[in-house]
Amino acid sequence: MAGGANTLYSAGIELAVRVIELLEINRDLVLARELIFRKYEFSPKAREMATLITNEVGRRWGVLNRMIEEVQEEPLSRSSSLLRAVLRVGAYEVYYNNKHPNYFLKALTPFFKKKRVKRGFINRVRYVLFGIKKFRIKPPQDIVEWAFWHLFFPQWASQRLIDQFGQEKALKLMEQMNQHPAMAVRVNTTKIGVRELASRFIERYAYELEISPIQPFIKLAKTYPVMRTPEYEAGYFTVQDPNTAVGVVKLLKLLPQEASILDACAAPGRKSSLIRQLRSDIRLFCNDISTMRMEKLINDFQRLELPLPYLTIADAAKPPFKIQFDAVHADLPCSGSGTWGKHPERKWLTTPERYLECVQTQRTILNSLVPLVKPGGILLFSTCSIWREENEENVRWLEENFPLKCIEMERLDPSGGSTGFFYALLKRTC
Ligand SMILES: C[S@@+](CC[C@H](N)C(=O)[O-])C[C@H]1O[C@@H](n2cnc3c(N)ncnc32)[C@H](O)[C@@H]1O
Repeated sequence: MAGGANTLYSAGIELAVRVIELLEINRDLVLARELIFRKYEFSPKAREMATLITNEVGRRWGVLNRMIEEVQEEPLSRSSSLLRAVLRVGAYEVYYNNKHPNYFLKALTPFFKKKRVKRGFINRVRYVLFGIKKFRIKPPQDIVEWAFWHLFFPQWASQRLIDQFGQEKALKLMEQMNQHPAMAVRVNTTKIGVRELASRFIERYAYELEISPIQPFIKLAKTYPVMRTPEYEAGYFTVQDPNTAVGVVKLLKLLPQEASILDACAAPGRKSSLIRQLRSDIRLFCNDISTMRMEKLINDFQRLELPLPYLTIADAAKPPFKIQFDAVHADLPCSGSGTWGKHPERKWLTTPERYLECVQTQRTILNSLVPLVKPGGILLFSTCSIWREENEENVRWLEENFPLKCIEMERLDPSGGSTGFFYALLKRTC
């Protein structure tokens, strides 16, 4: 490779640029990576490199945009989508990864040839990247601006975090969401013990791991390709964050033998299969509005070799049930702000008002689900949002408007790859 840029690096950044270009359209980094990795054949090492780079570009999305726009003195919207993607990846590589602009450009030469880009395009990239190399962050005026440049959070989000949690906790949360993403698996204890699977992971694949205090989970030190192992095929585990299991485990402790549960927004079925795995006696009904996501639930139950629940596909705001249940699980669609650690691009690609639309949807669904809880039964309400409006304020609204009493609620903070999660258990009083 000319100029010393090696082939692996060339492949890694080509993939990264393709992913970042697609991200602008589909606004989901995991999905963009999946689609690009499926379409273009590159080595696992190139994919690994592209995954790392695109995560970091996603995390700094708004900061990179600002740097580029300051250097080129022109909004990015005036550039083509390909130029924007090359500049974003290039700015990350030059500013944060200490790559020389010429090294980056030479590594992209084969890609530029495939794309038949003009000389002017390359000159523009070179000009901007040399500007980025000299870029200096101006002293921030306040903590929100400091968090923008140093913790990579949009101003509206850090301001909301400060308003809700106070400055100290907000800064801690932002730092936690920037930690290196870990992953966790839930052991399918109907097939294998937690310690036995942990030993296999260590002996066969040298995974670094620890057994989670939340059972039956194993926390892995980083994102390993666990879904390509024979153990995954054999249904020994499913990928799930332990924080998201706590509410379900507590609910099951409150329910008598052969109780009925309606999991109203169940797909892709992580928590439903946990219910089935921990309590085979439960009469489980799973519903979701999305057929595609419901297919994932069915596939996962089959892979885990767990008996399928009763299935319906319907809008939970118009539930097709004439019976009531001992428990209703409302794991509701939400702003997903608790997942920003794992999906760092989302904080930039959402709108500040998104959570308000979510509260509206959540209340519409809850309004229809509460009557399906038997008197004396339990409503388990949960979100993966960190915003008070979607969590504590919804619980308050439920207590004020329905015969429900909150018996427990908990907010589990996001950290590293762990999802920020909220759940509340409410008992129907009459
Ligand atoms: C947070 S996810 C549920 C995750 C799932 N409980 C699990 O543990 O794997 C929210 C789900 O709600 C579904 N959903 C969104 N709006 C809905 C509606 N109006 N009625 C039913 N399901 C809905 C989505 O398709 C999505 O699968």
